[in-house]
Amino acid sequence: MAIESGFLDELRARTPLFSVVGRRVKLARSGRNWKGCCPFHGEKTPSFYVYDDHFHCFGCGVHGDVISFVMQMEGKSFPEAVEELASAAGLDVPKDDRRSQEDVARTRSLGDVLELVQQIWSSALFTPSGRAGLDYLLGRGLTRQTIESFGLGWAGDGRGSLTSALAARGVPPEMMAEAGLMRLDEEGRPKGELFWGRVTFPIRDRKGRLVSFGGRILGDGQPKYLNGPETALFSKRRLLFGLDRARAAVRAPRPKGAPVTDLVVVEGYMDVIALHQAGFNGAVAPLGTALTPEQLDVLWQVDRAPVLCFDGDAAGRRAAARAAEVALPLLKEERSLRLCLLPEGEDPDSLVRTRGAEAVGALFASASPLSDVLFDLLAGGVSNPGPEERAALRRKLVDAAAQIPERTLAAEYRSTLLDRFFETFRRKKGGGFAGGARGAGGGGSGSRVPQDIQPARVDPVRERQRILLGLLLRYPDLVPEVEEALCRLTLPEDYSEVRALLLDLSAEGMLPEDGRSLLEALAGREEEGLVRGVLSEGALPLNMEEKDTSLAVAIRTQWWHFYGLLNFGQFQQDVAQEVARFAQDGADMAEWKRLQPRLEALAALRRGEMDE
Ligand code: UTP
Ligand code: MN
Repeated sequence: MAIESGFLDELRARTPLFSVVGRRVKLARSGRNWKGCCPFHGEKTPSFYVYDDHFHCFGCGVHGDVISFVMQMEGKSFPEAVEELASAAGLDVPKDDRRSQEDVARTRSLGDVLELVQQIWSSALFTPSGRAGLDYLLGRGLTRQTIESFGLGWAGDGRGSLTSALAARGVPPEMMAEAGLMRLDEEGRPKGELFWGRVTFPIRDRKGRLVSFGGRILGDGQPKYLNGPETALFSKRRLLFGLDRARAAVRAPRPKGAPVTDLVVVEGYMDVIALHQAGFNGAVAPLGTALTPEQLDVLWQVDRAPVLCFDGDAAGRRAAARAAEVALPLLKEERSLRLCLLPEGEDPDSLVRTRGAEAVGALFASASPLSDVLFDLLAGGVSNPGPEERAALRRKLVDAAAQIPERTLAAEYRSTLLDRFFETFRRKKGGGFAGGARGAGGGGSGSRVPQDIQPARVDPVRERQRILLGLLLRYPDLVPEVEEALCRLTLPEDYSEVRALLLDLSAEGMLPEDGRSLLEALAGREEEGLVRGVLSEGALPLNMEEKDTSLAVAIRTQWWHFYGLLNFGQFQQDVAQEVARFAQDGADMAEWKRLQPRLEALAALRRGEMDE
């Protein structure tokens, strides 16, 4: 789509910049203008200024008008951003083919400017002026071949040399600014070169087109790395350093028996380059920011379960948790992640050098599926939790699983996380963790006879499940006692929702006293129908009014009996474990009483009695 400039002027005039920015950034008056904290780099004191027709950040140098704001903020292309703003302003975007060619010519020429700069910088590295830069790179263990293959360069000793070299070839400072090679003053005019006294890293998009540069200072100093600003060609939210090569490597046909090339996401450019040099051709890195949803999309186009590497320290674990948070709403069966926590204080670059490529390969191969590490990330640091902490953690786990839009996958995450929860924080006398039964799915649900085929006959498995849930709906205070077992059951989707409801209420400490108040509490909510269905399908051998102690035991016995019918192996094993625990710890009468219904139910099941 090409867009005529008269229309763009009108669009800009009709779209007040401060209101578009103000929807995403908290702005305060500053004289005639507005200011706020820059949304493009993390900052606590505002240095992001919004004028009538442009914005500028004095912290990181981003700069532009309302269209480029939307492009940079949302990772949209120029026509996409125009389309969005136009529809908000009630305008139709006209088309014009002539401009289209101009646009293409312009972006191509920005690319040409960058390529010209790349030639200048990469050859400077091998001149006397670039000597310090070359020594630095060699000193970090890169070979000449790697340096050349990645096109590393030297940005010159002082400011000004690039400007004059480019001017001699007809490139004005304004164009350098558009290509992201200049700092800008507050009016948006080129103010001076961005890169000098640094080794340079050409940044290419996934098709290998040069879009920007990064630069590293030699040795210590701040900022250690500089990346070019967002431009028409360069969107940090979308780009991953090294993706052009990694994509080719992952997709390349491989000889029979050769290992698969994994797509591995690391933190820095140097890590990517060192890994490629060591033979890991699937390494990529974002550019100093946390992974974005756009980057995940790009990664998943290449590999269904890329490996994300993080430092094993607290900050690295936080970054891993953040990445998981971003990924959860996007997960699908064929879009997953693996996570690899590196030894504390090490990065892949240092590991390759100190431990060798083989050790690093083993580390990547040991990366765990997201479902396995999510629990550790969320529960990190929690040990011996009290009821409040248990509830808070359970809520976090349940919420995390609920972030996944695919219901089947969400249900699997939920039960995996809750299984781990109960396994790890089983309420146990005398402290310590209970072991065993990891990830045990409930067996025994058997094959269900579809009810529409045989409407006259009740499916016995479904009927048992219903009674089990019906008991809990009538006697909600049973839920905390049985929830661990409850989580293990395999249930059909509608019953699994009823279970989720009960577990959520329990986690929130919101369980009502009896079935009637539960129904009242649910009045008008979506789940009401579901719950009524469980309570009214067929006849339940229970009276909601009665509630005395002998009945309490009977109800519990009944619950466990039905549970045992559905999941006998697990039930038997759990009861045996509880009994063994008593034998070890010595009996506590209250606890022992709590075990009674289970023992009775087990005995009855073993005798084959008491079928429904
Ligand atoms: P790190 O600080 O982890 O550095 O930055 P590193 O990759 O280990 O680099 P070396 O080994 O010290 O050379 C990781 C990434 O964060 C971005 C860069 O993209 C870098 O590759 N970064 C870091 C910046 O953009 N600016 C900085 O000042 C520092
Ligand atoms: Mn490093």
